Order: sequence, then C-alpha cells, then structure tokens
Amino acid sequence: MQNYLEKTESCILRHLEQNHVSDTILKSSSYSIEAGGKRFRPYLLFSTLSALGHDPLKGVQTAAAIEMIHTYSLIHDDLPAMDDDDYRRGSRLTNHKVYGEAAAILAGDTLLTESFSIVAADVSLPAEKRIALVSQIASKSGFNGMIGGQMLDIEAEGQEISLSELENIHQYKTGKLIVLPVQCACIIADVSGDVTRQLVNFAEKLGILFQIRDDILDVEGDIAITGKSAGSDEKNNKTTYVSTYGLKGAHEQLEKLVENAEFILNGLAEEIETKELHSVLQRFAVRNQ
Ligand code: IPE
Ligand code: IPE
Ligand code: MG
Ligand code: MG
Ligand code: MG
Repeated sequence: MQNYLEKTESCILRHLEQNHVSDTILKSSSYSIEAGGKRFRPYLLFSTLSALGHDPLKGVQTAAAIEMIHTYSLIHDDLPAMDDDDYRRGSRLTNHKVYGEAAAILAGDTLLTESFSIVAADVSLPAEKRIALVSQIASKSGFNGMIGGQMLDIEAEGQEISLSELENIHQYKTGKLIVLPVQCACIIADVSGDVTRQLVNFAEKLGILFQIRDDILDVEGDIAITGKSAGSDEKNNKTTYVSTYGLKGAHEQLEKLVENAEFILNGLAEEIETKELHSVLQRFAVRNQ
C-alpha cells in the first residue's frame, strides 16, 4: 500500500511542478501536500480496487486527484473566514499562516482545478471511464457534496439540531469525499450497479463515523499525534456529535456505526475480498491521528 501512496504523492507533486506559472502558488500548494496526512482517501481507493481483484496501479491518478481535492478542502477550512485554525498536518502552520490568505485561497483553487486535468490525462484508462470519474469527482466535491456540507456546517454553528440533521452535515462535509474513492474504484474496476451500491452503502457509514471520530479527537486528541489545532469546534461554536451528545454519547454513536459498517461488509457479494476493508474500518475508526 505504501508504494501506491508514494506514487500518488509523486504524481501530484510532479504535476504541480510541471504545470506552474507562479512559484508562490507552486510552493504553497506543494507545502500542504508534502505535509502528509493519513492519505485515507487514496488508501480506501486502493483497498477497494484490491478487494475487487483489480490492479491498484490503475487508480494512482484518480487517488491523486481525490487527495488534491481533500487537501484543498482543508486549506480553505482553516482560513480565518471558516475555522480559523493555525496548525495542520504534523503540527505545521496552516497554509495561510505561512503564505498569506491570497496564496492559500489560490493554492486551494489550484489543487481543485488541477485535479481534473490529472484524471482527464490518465491514459491508462479509456475515455469513457475518465469522463465518469470526472463527473463523480465534481458531484461529490461540489455544492451537492463536500462544499454544500461545509456551508451547512457553518450555518449550524450555535444551533441545536436533530440527529438526522447532524448526520446529514457529516454525510456531506466529510462523507461525500469518503464515498468518492469507493465509487471511483467501482468505475475503474467496472463492477455492476449492485456491487457499487453495496460498497457505497458501506462507505457512507465509514464517512460519518470518520467525522464522529474527528469530532471526538477535537476534544480528546493530542495535538502531538493529530498534528492539528485542538478545541477548534468549541472555539467556533460548532454543532458536533460531542457538543450534541457529549463525549460518551459520541463514542456510543461511533460504536453503533462501526457495528453497522461491519454488518454491511459481512453481507457483501462473495466475489469481494473484504479482509482489507475490515482492516480499513478498524484502523480508521479507532485512530488517534
Ligand atoms: C480531516 O481529514 C478533515 C475531515 C474531513 C475529518 P483527515 O483526518 O483525513 O486529514 P488528513 O488528510 O489526515 O490530514
Ligand atoms: C472539515 O471538518 C471537513 C472538510 C470538508 C474539510 P472539520 O473542520 O472538523 O475538519 P478539521 O477538524 O479542521 O480537520
Ligand atoms: Mg470545518
Ligand atoms: Mg476545521
Ligand atoms: Mg474537526
């Protein structure tokens, strides 16, 4: 897996290096990519491809594109107009703290826009698959996806909302970019609609529980391990699983979703090798990073 993740990072950095006009934007966009992060979305894409018996190498460019969009969402999420945070990925200063707001906004815009060129230029895949991938990436990131969720998250600040509204925010702001790699793996591996639906169903649970863990870590986490500002949600009056149900309640909701996701995995079609997906679920549900 490490090998595919390294290939993903070098694919992004090479693309930025080869296509830049502004040295400042090259530096600011590479800064946030090189800072690392868990690479969970690429990891999930490669794990899904291997579960489907397909060559993970075919997913490198798509994984690069998804990681670029995710990284852009973090750069913008940290801006003063949004969560206003100072530390990210390995406790490095956030992008705008190093390069200023204008370069940080443009670094985010660059990563978003260039992600589409990478997929469009992926000659290892036929044109129809590239079109399907571009369309999925746009819809899961756009206003019916992560961007929409980010707005709902901001509008919910200081509000009391129902469990289903809270779940909806998590599903959009985080879940959509976690469903995306699974959906893309299904396109690359050319699987049936039925198998895609089952895997997407699993990824939807995974996306919500990933954000619940993030809400918990914002309170319980150790910045030396998470590598990002702690207490951000309370500072911003965010409505999270912890603010709504308390730490204990949030842990319980997380447990329930892990069980649910395990149940879905156990019911997947026989041709899917689920071992790797079980370990993705366990590893990322209990993460401290
Ligand atoms: C952080 O995502 C923001 C959320 C959507 C929860 P990650 O926890 O995947 O961040 P990195 O990529 O490891 O930095
Ligand atoms: C962010 O959620 C989801 C995104 C789309 C970036 P958070 O605001 O909780 O993410 P962190 O905790 O800053 O990483
Ligand atoms: Mg946020
Ligand atoms: Mg944030
Ligand atoms: Mg958070």
